[in-house]
Amino acid sequence: MNTTKIPTAARCVILMLFCTAQAGVCPPSCICTPVGEMKGWVVDCNSRGLKEVPVLPVSTSKLYLQNNSLTTVNTGTFDSLSRLEEVNVSDNPWNCDCRILYLKFWLEDVSESSLASVICATPASNKMKPLSQLSGNELDSCRMPLPIKCLDFFWRDLALISFAVVVFILTSCAMKFSKRLVYQAIRRQYYFAVPLLQKQNLENHVSR
Ligand SMILES: *[C@@H]1O[C@H](CO)[C@@H](O)[C@H](O)[C@H]1NC(C)=O
Ligand SMILES: *[C@@H]1O[C@H](CO)[C@@H](O)[C@H](O)[C@H]1NC(C)=O
Repeated sequence: MNTTKIPTAARCVILMLFCTAQAGVCPPSCICTPVGEMKGWVVDCNSRGLKEVPVLPVSTSKLYLQNNSLTTVNTGTFDSLSRLEEVNVSDNPWNCDCRILYLKFWLEDVSESSLASVICATPASNKMKPLSQLSGNELDSCRMPLPIKCLDFFWRDLALISFAVVVFILTSCAMKFSKRLVYQAIRRQYYFAVPLLQKQNLENHVSR
C-alpha cells in the first residue's frame, strides 16, 4: 500500500510544481517583458502565426495577440488573468459561432475597444461583421430548436389529452350501457320470477 501511495503523492507534487511553473512561464513563441515593479508582464504574441491561444502567465497585464490565425478562444482561457489591463486580439480570422461568446463576454468586461476590433471571418453569414454587433441568435449552433420542441410537446400533450378524453367518454358510455343491461336483466328476471312465485303459491294453496 505504502509503496504505491508515495510515488502517487510525489507525482502530484511534481505535477503541481510543473503547473505553477507553467503559470509563470512565457509562452515559447511570445516575448515577455516585465512592467514596472511586480506589476506583471507584457506578453507579446503579435504576428506569430498562432492557431491557438498559448498558456499565458497569470500575471499577464498586457496581452498582444493581433495578426495571428486564431479562430476561437476556449471557454475559461482568460479567466485566470486577473491583472490584465490591455489586450489586442484584432486581425485574426475569428470563427463567429456559438463558442465565440466566451471571447465576446470577456472582452465586454475587459476592453470594449478591443471588442470593437474583432471582425468575424467565418462562417459566411457573419463574414466581415464586428463581433460586438452579433447576438447569440445570429451565432451558429447557439439557436436551440426550442420552439419546435415546445410545439412537439404541445402536439404530443394534445394527442394524449384527446386520447384520455375519448377513453373517458367511451368508459362512461360503456358503464351506462352495462348498467342499463344489468337493470334490464334484473327487470326481466323479476317479471319471470313473479309468475313463477305466484304459480308456486297457487300450487302451495292447492296442496294444502
Ligand atoms: C502579420 O503576420 C504576418 C506573418 O504571420 C506578417 O508577415 C505580417 O507582416 C504581419 N502584419 C502586420 C501588420 O504586422
Ligand atoms: C491592435 O493592434 C492593431 C495593429 O497592431 C492596431 O491597429 C489596433 O489599433 C490595436 N487595437 C487595440 C484595441 O489596441
